[in-house]
Amino acid sequence: MANGSREERRNKVIEVLNKARSMELQAIHQYMNQHYNLDGMDYGELAANMKLIAIDEMRHAEAFAERIKELGGEPTSEISGKIEKGQEINLIYPFDVEREEDAVDVYNQFLLVCRENGDSITMKLFETIIEEEQAHLNYFANIDEHLKNLGATFLARIAGTSASTGPSKGFTVKANSAQ
Ligand SMILES: [Fe+2]
Ligand SMILES: [Fe+2]
Repeated sequence: MANGSREERRNKVIEVLNKARSMELQAIHQYMNQHYNLDGMDYGELAANMKLIAIDEMRHAEAFAERIKELGGEPTSEISGKIEKGQEINLIYPFDVEREEDAVDVYNQFLLVCRENGDSITMKLFETIIEEEQAHLNYFANIDEHLKNLGATFLARIAGTSASTGPSKGFTVKANSAQ
């Protein structure tokens, strides 16, 4: 365990929680923008799933904020980076694969910071969220592969499908409850 007072150790955990929250806030805006784009292009099914993934990121931002408050910190409203707007469909999925790979990688590093500072509860939170980012990553990689291998044929199947998500709880919530 790292040296330092309990307060110093707690502050290190709050710091990584806020960095993670910033990344989630960015992801929410990025995916909502892509959701509107995909909906505008009439790729309903892809738009619906993008919306559900954005909702997952909202749950993550909230979960991080709750833990920050439990530790006596102030949840940030800072967004980690700028939002790419109006991306072509062929750019969206490789871009999102990279975003989710980053999230998995960075959150694993944050999990180690929690371990070093003796916070097993926050470690578990990161573990749960990393699993959900991995599910997003798998989904984005799968769509990216379809687009690369099938291109227009794949898109023709998607065009005009429904963008309705019904009463949506998020992508991973839905995926988990379907098992
Ligand atoms: Fe997330
Ligand atoms: Fe994600």
